Amino acid sequence: MTLYWIKKVNGKKQRIWNYGRSRGLKEAKNILGDVEKEVKLLLKNKKQIKILEVGCGYGRILLELKKKYKDRVETFGINKEPRWNLKLIEVFGVAEGIFSKKEIAKNLPKLVICDVNNKIPFKNNTFDFVFSERTIQYLSNKAKYLEELNRVTTKDGTILTDIQNGTENRWEIFKKGKKVNIYSILSQKKGIKLQKEKGNPKDKFLRMQKQSNFKLNLTLVSSQDLHKLNPDKWGTKSTFNSK
Ligand SMILES: C[S@@+](CC[C@H](N)C(=O)[O-])C[C@H]1O[C@@H](n2cnc3c(N)ncnc32)[C@H](O)[C@@H]1O
Repeated sequence: MTLYWIKKVNGKKQRIWNYGRSRGLKEAKNILGDVEKEVKLLLKNKKQIKILEVGCGYGRILLELKKKYKDRVETFGINKEPRWNLKLIEVFGVAEGIFSKKEIAKNLPKLVICDVNNKIPFKNNTFDFVFSERTIQYLSNKAKYLEELNRVTTKDGTILTDIQNGTENRWEIFKKGKKVNIYSILSQKKGIKLQKEKGNPKDKFLRMQKQSNFKLNLTLVSSQDLHKLNPDKWGTKSTFNSK
C-alpha cells in the first residue's frame, strides 16, 4: 500500500494522501455517524477518557480529537503494516495543518502495529470509546473482532464500527443449513443500535454500549480474499456456522 504520492502542483512538490486512509471526523459522518458526539457524551461523565481507533490509517480522527479535547482525551491507534507508523502520522498531521511541527510530538496517539485477526492487544475494559472504520472488511473472523471491540471497552463505554455487509456480502452465515443475515443477528442483541450509513445506505453501522457478556456464537468455517478472486473487489468474506 502506497504511503502517499508526490505530485507537482504549480511547480511545487506536494504529497497526495491515500483517501481511504485519511478520513477525518467530517468524512466519518457518512460511515459511522457523529464520532465527536460520542466523545462529548462520554466527557459529560468523566474528566478524561481513553479512545482507541482500530485501523487508524494516518490517524486523522485521533489527531482531530486531540486538537479539540486536548488532555481530556488519551488517544490510541492500531495499524497492521509496519510502514503505517507514528512517523507517517507525524508527517501527515503537520502537512495537513492539524498540529505544528513543534506541537505534534506530544499530541500523537500511542500506536500499536499488529494484526487484530488474532486479538486486540489490550486488557479487558481499557477504553471508554472504541471505534473502527473501513477495517472490519479485511478481517477473517469478523464475529470475533466485534467481541474483541466489546472486550477492550470499559463498563459504560461505547463502540462504533461499520459492519461492511451491504454492497459486498462479506459475511456469510449458515444456521441449520439456511443463510442468516448478520444484521438480523445483531439487531436481536442487547445494547446494539444499527443505523444505515449515510454515504452508503445499503450498509449499516453499529453503535453499542459495552455488554458484560457479548457472544455472537458464530464459528468461523472459512475466509476468502475477495481481491484474489476478482481484482475489482477488495476485502475478505467470512463464512460462519451459527449455533
Ligand atoms: C482502509 S484503511 C481505513 C483507515 C481509516 N480508518 C479511514 O477510514 O480512513 C484500513 C485500516 O485497517 C488496518 N488494518 C487492516 N487489516 C488489519 C489487521 N488485520 N489488523 C490490524 N489493522 C488492520 C490498516 O492498517 C488500515 O489502517
